[in-house]
Order: sequence, then C-alpha cells, then structure tokens
Amino acid sequence: MNFQWYPGHMTKAKRQMQEDIKLIDLVIELVDARIPLSSRNPDIDELGKHKARLILMNKADLADDEQTKRWSEFFREQGCFVVKLDARTRAGMKKISEVVLEACKEKIERDRRRGIKNRPVRAMVVGIPNVGKSTFINTYAGKACTKTGNKPGVTKGKQWIRLNKNAELLDTPGILWPKFEDQRVGLYLALIGSIKDEILNIDELSLELIKILKEHYPGVLEHRYGLAEEQEPPELLGQIAKNRNCIKKGNELDYSKAAALVIDEFRSGRLGKITLEFPGNQR
Ligand code: G4P
Repeated sequence: MNFQWYPGHMTKAKRQMQEDIKLIDLVIELVDARIPLSSRNPDIDELGKHKARLILMNKADLADDEQTKRWSEFFREQGCFVVKLDARTRAGMKKISEVVLEACKEKIERDRRRGIKNRPVRAMVVGIPNVGKSTFINTYAGKACTKTGNKPGVTKGKQWIRLNKNAELLDTPGILWPKFEDQRVGLYLALIGSIKDEILNIDELSLELIKILKEHYPGVLEHRYGLAEEQEPPELLGQIAKNRNCIKKGNELDYSKAAALVIDEFRSGRLGKITLEFPGNQR
C-alpha cells in the first residue's frame, strides 16, 4: 500500500467524511495496535467530536499484549471505548456488538424517551489505508448481513449493512490519511508495511527496527538469530547476514537481503508480538 496523498485527495476525503459523520451515531476507528498513534490521524477527534467513539486496536495478534493494554487505557482516558482485535477472525466480534450498544447508550436512552423504539444505532468505520478496515467490515458483517438502501422502495443514497436488529454500518469506510509531521510516523508506517518498500531505504529501516528491538525487546534478536546483542545495529545486521547466509557475488555479505529478512520476519510476527510505539513516549 503506497500512500499517495495529495491535497486534493485529502480535502475530498475529509469533506466526504464530514458528510458521512452527520449520518451516524458512532465512529469506529481502526488503529494498528503496533503503532496506535502513528496509525491514526488526530483530525478524527475534531470530525467525530459529538459522536460516540470506539477505537479498535487491530492487528493485536502482532502487537505486545502488555502495551496494547496500556494503549487501551490511554484511549479510554480520552473518553473512547476500546476493543483489541484480530479483524481476520470472528472472535471478538460479539464483544464489539456489546460495546457498540454500550457506547450508544445515551442515544438509545434519548430515543426511548422520545418514544422512538428499535431504531438501530448507525456507525461508520474509519482508518488509514491498510489498517484492516475492509477485513473488519467483511468479518463483522459476515455473510448474514443484508444491505439496505438502493433497493426498490428505499430512498437512493448510502448503503447500510444491517449487522443485527440493533446496529447498522455504513458500507464504505472512511479513509483517513496518516499524519507525517513527525519523521518517526513515516518510519513506523514503513516498518509495518504501509508504505511501499521500493521508495524506502530498506537497510536504514532495518537498522531502526534493530535499534527498537534491542532497546525494548532484549533477547529477541539473540533468540531468533543467535546474536550477541551488545553490538551496534550495523554490526548486528552484518551478523544476521552471516548467520542467515545472505551472501552476494564475490562472497560479500548482502546487507540488504538481511535487512529485508528481518523486516519481513517482524511484519509476519515471526519475531514475536512486538509494539513499536509506547504510551508515555508519544509526541
Ligand atoms: P484497509 O481496508 O484498511 O486498507 O485494510 P485491509 O482490510 O485491506 O487489510 C490490510 C491487510 O491487513 C490485509 O493483508 C489483511 O489481511 C491484514 N489484516 C487485517 N486485519 C488484520 C489483523 O487483525 N491481523 C493481521 N495479522 N492482519 C490483518 P494483506 O496481506 O494485504 O492481504 P491478504 O493477504 O490478507 O489478502
């Protein structure tokens, strides 16, 4: 996934979201649990400020459970409901349905007082590219979902997915753009694979990853690659190249191949459950 955001895109996406948000009660925002801040655009706080908010810490299967817990607290303190998730599986979806109702309790209560019964809660999914929005919608809505709208007798307009008798989901997710103001954001997005590798310096990227692992996850590199971790990142990368037989023509160590290998093993979870960004250290 390559981010090619131009001002025109951003303005259009934002305008669309402003319109869509008017139609809903609840914003379901997906973030990547490995980089919960860098994978979101704080503009959503302004856009969704009068709405109930649910943050899904997605790809939690790849993130450090302890840090996911801390981040969940962090977002709860800001008034959001939070659920951790692996959007590819249905486990956790029941919990989400419960939290959706909990988050919209006030609205349901208000409806009840006005004599409106059984009006479903309406929600929309938002998040930056690649965070798992479509996967979530597909898994959550499942096959059982029925689309409403654009049918004979139904007013033309937005497509809604009926989740159950209590909730409907706008079928197109809102795309947020990442906020690249801080250089670390670009780095983290690159490490989780949200920016095309071709435009990045893979060697430098892997050195940053090695640095983070060395500092926050001591023992991981040693365990996976048999390294003595007290060396500096470039030496460690060289050691990985050696131990994993990354050799170029002329019998030289192939640093780039080793770099790609470490990054790939991190992304696929083979290095374990790792979070890159920690609450308390944020900007
Ligand atoms: P988007 O709509 O927000 O752009 O994201 P999308 O659902 O397309 O998901 C992006 C990638 O992330 C997909 O992988 C998807 O399978 C994966 N993914 C989504 N949720 C989770 C999760 O909770 N855990 C893990 N580990 N992966 C998740 P892909 O490789 O691009 O596609 P595919 O190979 O799965 O088809």
